[in-house]
Amino acid sequence: MREQDFIPVGYKKSVQSGKVTWQSPSNIALVKYWGKKENQIPANPSVSFTLKNCKTITTLEFQKKETRGEDFDFELFFEGNKKDDFKPKITKFFERIEKYSPFLKDYKLIIQTENTFPHSSGIASSASGMSALALCLMSLEKQLNPELTEDYFLKKASFLARLGSGSACRSIEGELIEWGKHESTAGSSDLFGIKYPYKVHEVFKTYQDTILLVDKGQKQVSSTLGHNLMHGHPFAEARFEQAHANLEKLQVVFETGNLPDFINIVESEALSLHAMMMSSEPYFILMKPNTLEIINKIWQYRETTGVPVCFTLDAGANVHVLYPEEHKEEVLAFIKNELVAYCEKGQYICDSIGKGAEKL
Ligand code: DP6
Repeated sequence: MREQDFIPVGYKKSVQSGKVTWQSPSNIALVKYWGKKENQIPANPSVSFTLKNCKTITTLEFQKKETRGEDFDFELFFEGNKKDDFKPKITKFFERIEKYSPFLKDYKLIIQTENTFPHSSGIASSASGMSALALCLMSLEKQLNPELTEDYFLKKASFLARLGSGSACRSIEGELIEWGKHESTAGSSDLFGIKYPYKVHEVFKTYQDTILLVDKGQKQVSSTLGHNLMHGHPFAEARFEQAHANLEKLQVVFETGNLPDFINIVESEALSLHAMMMSSEPYFILMKPNTLEIINKIWQYRETTGVPVCFTLDAGANVHVLYPEEHKEEVLAFIKNELVAYCEKGQYICDSIGKGAEKL
């Protein structure tokens, strides 16, 4: 599929009004997307577990206007309250996707959105939020063009979500999603995420992710800013090559279920991501002292018990603890006994690998 394939050539039906709701999950990257080119094209391919419990639920109401508007006409509610401070981000998203969703200015839109995870948890809601909104817009497009195939619907939803937030394109389907052109992955694309197309070992199908909320405050440096600092970064090229190589290695791991190799690649990716931040100009650190305490505790625990538990990080201080379902009981006991003390207000979220977004 090429970019032009996402530009509609006209609509078959006229739709006056309606309402649609989607719930869309967050995701956690194993190989990280960090650095991008024009138009939200990733500098390297990435792969993620789709999550199950951390979700955004978005309802889109649409009413056709008598005459097409000059500007986008929408209202936004977050957890029932009008949220005008989110509007610039959505306006920017609409501007980026207008070419692919030219119906936007024909409608008055009301967007109602809520998250299943606590508001100020430090968990980014852009992946689940942008993917849920993209899916709602695709449902409207499907009413205008009922012949759209399921495959096109999902690819375009991912394509649109990417233009809202890169990682959001990995939140449409489950369970393992790859985004970005990668030589050894057939069908991989910079334009949208695809379901990982090769064999996946049983152990990964029920993998657990317990998210330790180390710091619930606002991040000092946004992801978008961090991505931009990869332009002219002294280690950028080596980092992008490393991501390609790690994806290659993960292909074998996904097939064999080799957990020591999985742990090695995933932790190295997390630390490389933060190493990029620490060596940007300007440099910055998003980990907190408790992030490091937790990492050291996990290493100690793994060393002494042999339980295959590891961590990953996204662009923040929170720690995602990853482990196979068969070790759930003991790892949760370890988390309660030894790690909760490092979480802000003792808070953590139990999640696991999920199957993707759902229409409600
Ligand atoms: C560290 O998708 O939030 O979580 O495209 O600018 O919206 P934008 O960035 P975003 O970046 C996510 C970065 C990451 C790694 C990852 O999810 O792959």
